[in-house]
Amino acid sequence: MAIQHRTEIADLQPYKPGKPIDDVKREYGLTHVVKLASNENPLGCSPKVMEAIRQALDSLSLYPDGNCTELKTALAAKFGLKPSQILPSGGSDEMVDMISKAYVNPGDEVIVADITFPRYMATAKMMGGTPVVVPLKNFTYDLDAMYHAITDKTKLIWLCNPNNPTGTMFGEKALMEFLDKVPQHIMVIYDEAYNEYVTRRDYPQEACRLIDKYPNIVVMRTFSKIYGLAALRVGYTIAREEIITTLNKIRNPFNVNTLAQKAAIAALADQDFIQKAYALNKQGKEYLYQAFDQMDISYAPSEANHIFFNCRYDAQEIFEELQKRGVIIRPMFATYARVSIGTMEENQLFIETLKEVFNILETKKEAACTCCCDCK
Ligand SMILES: Cc1ncc(COP(=O)(O)O)c(C=O)c1O
Repeated sequence: MAIQHRTEIADLQPYKPGKPIDDVKREYGLTHVVKLASNENPLGCSPKVMEAIRQALDSLSLYPDGNCTELKTALAAKFGLKPSQILPSGGSDEMVDMISKAYVNPGDEVIVADITFPRYMATAKMMGGTPVVVPLKNFTYDLDAMYHAITDKTKLIWLCNPNNPTGTMFGEKALMEFLDKVPQHIMVIYDEAYNEYVTRRDYPQEACRLIDKYPNIVVMRTFSKIYGLAALRVGYTIAREEIITTLNKIRNPFNVNTLAQKAAIAALADQDFIQKAYALNKQGKEYLYQAFDQMDISYAPSEANHIFFNCRYDAQEIFEELQKRGVIIRPMFATYARVSIGTMEENQLFIETLKEVFNILETKKEAACTCCCDCK
């Protein structure tokens, strides 16, 4: 008889990441492939990070500092917090998993948006929790509707600001009003993986300091996006000490490797690099908006490093046609897709290739048309 897995995971699907560049090169015999599918930093990472990693190579035979003391100290200094209020993890992914493992009991309700980072819902289900799914309004989190979804079974509420995949954000006033209303026995997890890209001034400032006022808020951040360290897997969470103590109970002892710790510390110290990445993203976003406007493509206003757009045709078909031509984006559902903002060359290549694909699909559509008009 086959070994039975836990019943809670029966309906779960493996996470589908953006296709690696080398896979696409091999599959289509291409030499140049551009990946705009996983919201990575097209500039790479700071040269200071590279140097820190080179220096850390001597210590590969030793276990990492399981407490991440130096990294916590650097983060605590940056935010004016205590190191005991900070917990680094193997990317935010690991923290999403840890929070669900530590807090979700079978039958607990977990409030999530319908179009958001999928791991919130997957990890709730994994623990036997019941996701309560709240639709976005105009592609943006509907905090009122989320508040009204609270019942006496609610355990966690996941907020993503700016949201992945839509790139939209809600403002500080809306967040504070929401937190003022949510009962404090319900944990609100505020994932701001893309906060460094935000251009709007009404974005919640210093979310990391919200723990002073609200005992139930947990703020998650990552080094995978603007800091350009996605391969190293390092992020961090800020919360009151009692929450950090609970999370530490289930944490793998050496969850953040030495290279990741050293790289993160060096990355924090190079804010010039962050400014460069921010400026490039803003320029790329404006270019893509303009190109989309010219092509009559609608999109959600983004405060992140990606744009959610309506590609008019089946998004899977657009994805496949682009991929054959060396551009990888992320199809979402129906006619919606997400493109990460790349370098200007990458953005231009994406737009040129998208125009080419549109022409091909338009010609195919016309050829298949059986009406009597002269559209052929
Ligand atoms: C909103 C959000 N949260 C968390 C993550 C996980 O990031 P990482 O595990 O690389 O820190 C992502 C990754 O794309 C994300 O978009």
